[in-house]
Amino acid sequence: MDKIIVRGGHALRGTIPISGAKNATLPALAATLLTGDRIHLSNIPHLKDVTTMLELLGQHGSAITVDERLGVEINNSGVNNFRAPYDLVRTMRASILVMGPLVARHGMAEISLPGGCAIGSRPVNLHIEGLRKMGAEITLDEGYIRARANRLHGATIYLDPVTVTGTENLMMAAALADGRTILENAAREPEVSDLAIFLNKMGARIQGAGTSTLIIDGVEELHGTQHRIIPDRIETATFMVAAAVTHGDITLTDADPETLETPIQKLRDAGVIVEFPEPDRIRILAPDPLKPVDLETSPYPGFPTDLQAQMLVLNSLAQGVSRIAETVFENRFMHVSELQRLGADIRIHGNIAEVHGVDHLLGAPVMATDLRASASLVLAGLAARGATVISRVYHIDRGYERIEEKLHALGADIQRTSA
Ligand code: UD1
Repeated sequence: MDKIIVRGGHALRGTIPISGAKNATLPALAATLLTGDRIHLSNIPHLKDVTTMLELLGQHGSAITVDERLGVEINNSGVNNFRAPYDLVRTMRASILVMGPLVARHGMAEISLPGGCAIGSRPVNLHIEGLRKMGAEITLDEGYIRARANRLHGATIYLDPVTVTGTENLMMAAALADGRTILENAAREPEVSDLAIFLNKMGARIQGAGTSTLIIDGVEELHGTQHRIIPDRIETATFMVAAAVTHGDITLTDADPETLETPIQKLRDAGVIVEFPEPDRIRILAPDPLKPVDLETSPYPGFPTDLQAQMLVLNSLAQGVSRIAETVFENRFMHVSELQRLGADIRIHGNIAEVHGVDHLLGAPVMATDLRASASLVLAGLAARGATVISRVYHIDRGYERIEEKLHALGADIQRTSA
């Protein structure tokens, strides 16, 4: 199994490009199931989760052509299998995103109950209740969600709590439903807006993207189009924190600073200098020492839970005490015990991590527990003295494209071994 070895202490310097957003790519790929026409998607990141979604589509009967440089072309005219099997779904809970499109276009879907990152209980009840409100008959048996419908109809659905993939699943289903669907308390994440833009290019009638009320007037059918996936804001911010904790000076290209207002504010509060030399470029310069920042994760436009682990590393190396509250997922502090192995002083009180900054971290063997947690271990390793050996790095490959190559290009001493 692959391991990543990081020898810390090098200030990152240089320029690297940001990849397309994983969390925008996965729903866009699922949305292609809504039409039998050809769809072309570009700026697709090379990630394990994307491969899993392509495999899932392939076994539903999609014809897929991947051009590493130009993106993917998908033709779903031959889709004839409506079952998303356990073996694929268990590795990626976003597989649930095929449920809405399959029921809406084919009137049936059988989706294994999802697995994915082991953070909190992560139920899918809102996806199921929403589809029921739109007229689907849904049963749960043998670990599968079985959904049937002649044609879905519009409904008013209040999503509580705010759910990203839940909003996406129901928005896709509503695009082909009979009549108007109103999604209240909808997720406002940029990836949800990107999906709405893509669906509208396919002929959908969706209003309100980026607000908490989505109004979707269903149409009879959708058609082919082309779409470029937005930049990955979580990857962008992860590299920003990497520059911060190594006191480096890096520039990120192909990025979208507008989707990162809250994290950028928090980094500035920590003393980091963030500049925008061009609208799609971000330069990060970090002083030593860093200041600690308090924060609370919350749905967009709040501070993303997917950056909580990375900010724990920053606070661990800042001068003073800080508190990070995790309000989106329960049980999302599994990386804390690994960071403690490197010498971080983090104390957990319920959903709050109290961080006492230390002078330095010391390299040690650690184990990745989920996708963003593994990124935090790489960041800690970059800042630590000595070698940090990270095992179970398959988690990181789910969501970060060529992370070690990109960090290497910025001067990090990082390598992957497959011992
Ligand atoms: C998405 C992102 C993930 C991110 C998360 C929160 C994708 C592919 N993944 O995950 O990277 O960490 O948003 O920003 O986009 N909930 C329910 N019932 C449901 C659905 C969700 O109670 O039916 C709860 C969850 O347990 C959680 C909260 O809602 O506490 C938010 O989860 P949700 O937004 O659904 O996360 P995902 O869409 O799975």
